[in-house]
Amino acid sequence: MTPSPDPKPLHYSAMQLAWLHELGIDKPWLPGDTRAVPAAASAASAPAQSAAPAAVLTAAAASTPSAASTPTAARASATPTTPSRSSTRGAASKPQQAAAPMSAVSIAAMTALTRAAAAAAPDLESLTLAASACQACGLCRQRDQVVMGQGVTQPAILVVGDGPGEQEDRKGLPFMAESGALLDQMLATIGSARTRDVYLTNLVKCRPPGNRLAQREEIAACHSYLVRQLELLRPFSILALGRNVAQTLLNTDEPLQNLRGRVHAFEVAGQKIPLVASYHSAHLLNHPADKAAAWQDLQLLRTLRR
Ligand code: URA
Repeated sequence: MTPSPDPKPLHYSAMQLAWLHELGIDKPWLPGDTRAVPAAASAASAPAQSAAPAAVLTAAAASTPSAASTPTAARASATPTTPSRSSTRGAASKPQQAAAPMSAVSIAAMTALTRAAAAAAPDLESLTLAASACQACGLCRQRDQVVMGQGVTQPAILVVGDGPGEQEDRKGLPFMAESGALLDQMLATIGSARTRDVYLTNLVKCRPPGNRLAQREEIAACHSYLVRQLELLRPFSILALGRNVAQTLLNTDEPLQNLRGRVHAFEVAGQKIPLVASYHSAHLLNHPADKAAAWQDLQLLRTLRR
C-alpha cells in the first residue's frame, strides 16, 4: 500500500513542539514543514495534557455479523515463561494463578466458542456483554472488569495494545496509566485523540495478572472479540503497539524493526485495513531514544488519513 502525499501542513501546539523538542527534533523535516521547533520549547513549559477520557462507547456502527477469522498466533507471548510487559503498571493485587498450557484442541474449542459469541453480537454493547460473560480462558478468574476499549466509531486510527493493566482493570478503560498518558501525548502530536478520532483497545480484554504478556491461548480465545470490534468500528487504519501486537496481527515472527516503517494490511470482513506497527508507549517510557522512530511511524499513519 502506498501512502498518499502529505495531506495538509501541520500546525503545532506548544505541547506538540515540546514533545518534538524532547525527541531532539529541532529541524523542519516533515513534508511541507518549514518551521523549526524553537529551542526554547521545553516539556516544562508545555501546557498540561488533558487526558480526559471519553465515555465508553455505547453507539454501534452498522454491522453484518460474520465469523471471525482464525486467530493468529501470538508468538512472542506463547512462551511458558510468560515475559512481563515493559510498563510501569503496579504489581498484581490479587494472588496469581499459573495458567496451565492448553492443548491445540482445547484452544480450538475455546476459540470456536468465542467466535460464535462475538459473531452473534449485532453491536458494540452486545459485544461487551458477551465478553463480560466470557470464561473462555483463565483470565476471567481474576478480572475486575472486562476492558473492551474507548474512543469513537469509524476512527481514523484504531490503536491495539497488549492488554489491560491494574488501573485499566479497575476503571474498565484502556491505557489509563503512564504509558496511556504518553500514548495520548503522541497521538496529540498528529492532531488525534481518543475523544476525537481514535479508538483504543487491546489484544486481550481481561488483565493478565502480574503485568505479564497474554499467553497464546488467551490471545487466541480473545481474537474473535477484536475482529468483531473491527467489523463494528470500521477503523480507517490500525496502529499496532509493540512487537507482540504487531506479530500477532500480522501473523509473523519478524522482529518489530522489520515490521516498522511500512504499511501492512489487516483483513477484516473482506476489507483491507492499513496497519502500521510501532513501539509500545510502555517501551518508550523506558527507551526514550526510540521516541524519534515512533514519531516517524505516526507520520506514516498521518499520511494515510482520509
Ligand atoms: N494499557 C492498556 O490498556 N494496554 C496496554 O497495552 C498498556 C497499557
